[in-house]
Order: sequence, then C-alpha cells, then structure tokens
Amino acid sequence: MLDYKNPKLIIETSTTENGSVTWKSPSNIALIKYWGKHGVQLPNNPSISFTLENAHTKTTINYGPKKGIDFGIELDFYFEGEKNPQFEAKIKSFLESIIEVFPFLKQLELKLESSNSFPHSAGIASSASAMSALALCLCTLEDQLFGTLSNDLEFRKKASYIARLGSGSACRSVYPTLAVWGQTGEIEESSDLFAIPYEESHEVFHGFHDDILIVSRDEKKVSSRAGHGLMEQNLYAGNRYQQARQRLHNLLTALKTGDLETFGRITEGEALTLHALMMTSNPPYILMHPNTLNIINALHEYRRETNLPVYFSLDAGPNIHLLYPDNIKEEVQKFTKEVLAPFCNNDILMDIAGQGPLEL
Ligand code: PMV
Repeated sequence: MLDYKNPKLIIETSTTENGSVTWKSPSNIALIKYWGKHGVQLPNNPSISFTLENAHTKTTINYGPKKGIDFGIELDFYFEGEKNPQFEAKIKSFLESIIEVFPFLKQLELKLESSNSFPHSAGIASSASAMSALALCLCTLEDQLFGTLSNDLEFRKKASYIARLGSGSACRSVYPTLAVWGQTGEIEESSDLFAIPYEESHEVFHGFHDDILIVSRDEKKVSSRAGHGLMEQNLYAGNRYQQARQRLHNLLTALKTGDLETFGRITEGEALTLHALMMTSNPPYILMHPNTLNIINALHEYRRETNLPVYFSLDAGPNIHLLYPDNIKEEVQKFTKEVLAPFCNNDILMDIAGQGPLEL
C-alpha cells in the first residue's frame, strides 16, 4: 500500500532560506461521476473528467524557517488579498492531517495567498482547483527543500494523492485534458489513491468546449460532503456503482474512437443520474432549478433540429456545462446567445478542456 509518510523530511532551520512557490490549477468536470466514498477519501467507483483551463485557482506559499521550537502549523491565510480566518482554519486542519507526509511544515512559518479566476460563490466547484493548487505547491516545496520529487510522474502522483485527501475530485485536476481516478481493470495503473492522466482520447476531445451557464450563484443547500454521506443509505447505491463501471467501459471506447454520440448519451446520463441519486437520498433533495431544466429542454430540441453534437453535464449544483467540439463553436455559441443565455441572465463562463496546472 502506497504510504507517503516520511519522517526524514526534516530541515535544518538555521540554514534554510525564505522562499515561495506558486501554482495555478484548474477545476474539472466529471464525465463519469464520483458520488459515494469510503475510508479516507476513497471512491466507490472510478471516475473520469475533463480538466478545465479558465476556471482556476492560483495559490502561493511563502515560507521561512521558524525561530524557535514549536510543533504546530503556523499559518496566515489570505483569500483574494484579504485575511480569511474561516478558510485559514480549514487549511490549517488539512495541513495538520498530512503532517506525517510533510513533517517539515511544522518547522516553517507559512503564508498562503489564494485567489480564483472565477467569482467566489459562482456555483463552480472551487475545491478541486483550490486543493489541487495547494497540493502542487506542497510537493514543489518538498522538492525545493529536499530535491526528492524531480521525476514529473512521481511528482504528479504525489500531488494527486495529497489533493485527493483535501477533496476527492481535486486529484483529477493535476493532469491536462482528461484524468481517471479509481481502480479499474480498464486502465492499467489506475488507483483509488490518486488519479492518472488519460492520454488515449481522440483529437476531437482536445480543446473540447465547456461553457458554464450559471443558473444560480447561490451557495448550495446540501454540501458535497453531506451528499457523499447520504449515499451510504441510498437504496440504489449498489446498482449505481455497477452502472458507473459499465458506463466507464463504454465511454472509454467512445473517447478513443471519437464517437461523440455515445459520449453525449453517457455524459448526459451521468449528470442526470447524479441528481437522481440526490432525489432518492434520505432525506431527498433537489439542486436543479427550473432554468436548469429549461436549458436542458431547449438543448434537446436544438439537437433534434440540427443533429449537432452538443451535450450537457451537471456538477452537484444547478449550473449547466455545455460540452461541444471546437469545429461547431460558431453555431453553438450563436444558439447559446439567442436561446440559452436568457435562462441564466447571460452569466456564462467560457472554458475548454485544457493544459492542466502550471507552476508560475
Ligand atoms: O470532490 P468532492 O468531494 O467535492 O465531490 C465532488 C463530486 C462531483 O463533483 C459531484 C462529481 C465528480 O466526480 O467531480
């Protein structure tokens, strides 16, 4: 079993200089959804996602050696330029939980600065970008101090593992274009502990569009953490995990061959299944809004009329992710502007399946 605990990662504070590390890391949209977990952030089924480009978090860790001996985490946290005690407490307890992986953290004074490219509370999953950016910073910090992570594959694997501990879906954000998380016989080297890149997709999926139609910016009524928890008692859970595996099998074939129709059928099925699982939880709940359904209906009508391969996905919220290949962007964007935009007050974030995180 992979274990990153390493008591050797202790610095000599008298010779350590101040430094800093910055990463920009994107959010992602799952095509096969992770919904339901066990143990320490382990998924009940494998998932695969597009890594986005424009919706990202930028995080800097400034560090310097502590003067005396103090075994706690010393952290100052700034979100969008302002001190944020609420996030600071969360990040501090996360860092405490991984102290055996990075024991040097307790020897440093840390100042973290984080900001999102998208407005806070835009209803966009910010935990994936935030936790992957933080995990990448921590791994670079380790490498700066000890030179232990110079191999890029090992670096990404560890960053993905650490990101997973912060937020499951975040582990997929450390790779470009597409990433798989969760053990499956379909893909060699796949693991429940970290994500791996999926590099066999047809070129039609490279730079695939994801326009995020913001139906509501309100904070959701039921958190993802609570949603995962409710899966434990969900009557349909067992069948759902089986379905996810079957769909992954079929989706991987579609991704390889460039079969957009199968891709769309599975992707939309997954989005609706995620919300069906919420509606069949105890207590049941609904995160879609009337305009979520209005957009889906208008999209289906447009597809019937035009036959164009444009599809939707949903995260755990009411906002629509409009997915389509680059070669039909003119038509789709015209349709979005004329028909869909009124359902979301023209509030749209244009994104694509992108290059993955970047060290700055
Ligand atoms: O990573 P979490 O614990 O916030 O869960 C997110 C789950 C979904 O976004 C709904 C699906 C997924 O696979 O990303």
